[in-house]
Amino acid sequence: MQIIRDVKTLRQAIFSLRNSGETVAMVPTMGALHEGHMSLVHEAKRHADHVVASIFVNPTQFGPNEDLEAYPRQEAQDAAMLEAEGVAILWAPTVGEMYPEGFATNISVSGVSEGLCGGARPGHFDGVATVVTKLLNQAQPDVALFGEKDYQQLAVIRRFVRDLDMPVEIVGVPTARAEDGLALSSRNAYLSDDERARAPVLNQAMRDAAEAMVSGKAPSAAIAEIRARLEEEGFGPIDYIELRDADSLEQLGQLNRPARLLVAARLGATRLIDNIAVKSGA
Ligand code: PAJ
Repeated sequence: MQIIRDVKTLRQAIFSLRNSGETVAMVPTMGALHEGHMSLVHEAKRHADHVVASIFVNPTQFGPNEDLEAYPRQEAQDAAMLEAEGVAILWAPTVGEMYPEGFATNISVSGVSEGLCGGARPGHFDGVATVVTKLLNQAQPDVALFGEKDYQQLAVIRRFVRDLDMPVEIVGVPTARAEDGLALSSRNAYLSDDERARAPVLNQAMRDAAEAMVSGKAPSAAIAEIRARLEEEGFGPIDYIELRDADSLEQLGQLNRPARLLVAARLGATRLIDNIAVKSGA
């Protein structure tokens, strides 16, 4: 596996991979890799001949009081995991290579970026959209894979790729979870043992609420129930608990079409997010 840190070398390496018409899949990450990221790599191998993974802790998607400095960085361990999975190239640019002096462009997606994590983290999705646009332009993959774990992020990426006619197929991959249901996340490393033991209540409360809504419980009542269980378990503050249209992310008061239940809540100092499908009762 080649580890590359400048765009020129990346372009040459990808040109060589494409040699005899072979295809390339990209898996963008911020590192601190776990089985969730690796499930994207596994899926990538099914979609293309070669896999390019990227690791870049993107400063522009972190707010001023967020965990940019503390975000776990473990490139050597990550590289070994990617190499063991047969990844051809690890694209790991420096901040200076990504955002050279004078950088002045911003990709901002209205609609799907608003509310949910976009409401709780102002500017976050501009940072994501801008860096993912750059990553896709740098590597020019045939297909790029993103996790449903970050459901709103996936919707934002699908939107700008369509809007900007970017020649890449976007594939969403289901959330990889621990046995107790907790969605795998690099940020789970921040949880104390006690918090880790309480964290699965998030997914459990969401699944119970989804089931209740499918059986006819009003979304507002089901959401109130999740809130009560999270508060009882010591979560807080809760950023949002919402039922949205599964595709447009439009807010839903009733379960009358395929929906997604999305939650973000803090447990101690750690912000946890999760989302699950809720089948339409209609
Ligand atoms: P990061 O949080 O490192 O996640 C990289 C990719 O892995 C994202 O597509 C994310 O949705 C996916 N992922 C994380 N946990 C997962 C899980 N448990 N199951 C399935 N997929 C999972 O998301 C980012 O980085 C950044 O915003 C990025 C897109 C790289 C832009 O900077």
